[in-house]
Amino acid sequence: MTGAAEPSKVGHEEEPRLSFAAGGRVATVEVDLMRAHAFAALVALLVSALFGTIVAIKLVQPDFLAGAAWSTWGSLRASHTQGILFGWLGNAFLAFLYFAIPRLAGRPVMSRRLGWWLFALWNLAMLLPGWALLAANLPQPWLAIKPLEWTEFPLAVNAVTELCLLLMGVQFIAALARKPNDDGFYVSSWYVIGGLVFTLLAFPMGSVVPQIVPGAIGAAFSGLWIHDAVGLYITPMALAIAYYVLPVRTGRPIYSHFLSMIGFWLLFFAYPLNGTHHYVYTSIPMDTQRAAIAASMVMGFDVVLVVLNLLMSLRGHAALVWRDVPLRFVWTGVVLYLVVSLQGSLQASMALQRHVHFTDWVIGHSHLAMLGFASFMALGAIAHIWDRTAQCQSHTGLMNLAYWLILGGLLVMVVDLTAAGLVQGELWNSSATWMDSVKASQAYWWVRTACAVPLLLGFASFLAGMLTQGKSQPSASRDHPHSSGPLPQPGNG
Ligand code: HEM
Repeated sequence: MTGAAEPSKVGHEEEPRLSFAAGGRVATVEVDLMRAHAFAALVALLVSALFGTIVAIKLVQPDFLAGAAWSTWGSLRASHTQGILFGWLGNAFLAFLYFAIPRLAGRPVMSRRLGWWLFALWNLAMLLPGWALLAANLPQPWLAIKPLEWTEFPLAVNAVTELCLLLMGVQFIAALARKPNDDGFYVSSWYVIGGLVFTLLAFPMGSVVPQIVPGAIGAAFSGLWIHDAVGLYITPMALAIAYYVLPVRTGRPIYSHFLSMIGFWLLFFAYPLNGTHHYVYTSIPMDTQRAAIAASMVMGFDVVLVVLNLLMSLRGHAALVWRDVPLRFVWTGVVLYLVVSLQGSLQASMALQRHVHFTDWVIGHSHLAMLGFASFMALGAIAHIWDRTAQCQSHTGLMNLAYWLILGGLLVMVVDLTAAGLVQGELWNSSATWMDSVKASQAYWWVRTACAVPLLLGFASFLAGMLTQGKSQPSASRDHPHSSGPLPQPGNG
């Protein structure tokens, strides 16, 4: 297939443009929408991380901000995770889609007006009211915080989310559905379509069904959504970024189209069953738990294939990964995808669950996934589109600084929480009291709190890098003699 190629810089958003590539057409890009979502993403990331910081402080200083409903630990924790999911990653993926879909499809997205409606609904009718309602802690069933992971926002807010997911399908899938040429879709498009369609269907299952189906059955549905949110919304979007950015920045095709397709179908077949591994050793039927464990092992195999394919596509470009900041962000996301997925497959086994279930090991794993894998992909995507859009200023030095600050903060946090989890597991399996384990966790919780400093500075530095002009990126596709060749394109491996 011939993927739409990417020009080095996009001109004014009103002009329909042809790319420099042989036949690759880049349709109108809604630059204003792309920028709006990217800035909203970074602001939401900073706010959500601040919520996370307060939550972390409260674990070591329980009296901190005590006394008000808005500042209870549970409410702020939900604001942290929902803000990360919808505010940060949701907006970042939308920014990427506004940049990539016109290139992948060779035609613009459905409608600019629809785009602004979607932006307003996502941020002003979903994210901000969601945070406000979590703080208000109201008793009405439609407006109350839900005790369901990854969908704590109240039901009224969930209705807006579902509407937005539907509108996203109209906005982006409609452009892709009329495929660019007879050879079919580029793999990024597969992931975008799969992620959007699956999430539209899975979100009500996680948000509404556990509210009406009681007990263990409801928990099983909730467990499915916990992992569908990560595996079939976040992961496909992050992989769409990786399959897009790596070939464009190196000027080389993806190593194997065959492996790309195997990776895609295995993800969508195996991942939906994964979620119940959150409830190993519970009253959910044992066969359901075993199926989830088996699916988790299959996922580990799938990730090895996907990561192998992506890393093989980079062979010969080690030096470029070092020099090119957007590429380095995405490459790091790919490596962390492998690490966190293999950890997850092992973690799903009953042998390891016995030691780490409900401990901080799991929180370390979550940060490795969402802050490591997903956020490095999303930051890489924004750095890439900023670098390639004429109307955007981009400062390589500040983004490079952001990379090291975020990577440093992440690694210390994950090692710290992993160690804390092992200590907690040991104590819980011994005759020690619960309070012994709380006391033993204190030092680790202080370190986790301290990690907020480099992380927040890193996010702020990245945002500053989006607002100032600096040296441009040394990407292969710009400097490479074949930069005008068709990109991104799968190889024949
Ligand atoms: C400023 C840095 C951050 C700090 C101090 C922080 C702290 C925390 C704390 C204290 C929790 C609750 C842990 C518990 O339930 O015991 C948490 C949960 C979580 N955070 Fe963060 N966080 C930070 C940034 C982030 C970022 C940037 C992301 C993702 C991009 C993220 C993703 C998550 C997730 C997914 C959970 C839920 C974990 C689970 O339930 O397994 N955090 N965070």
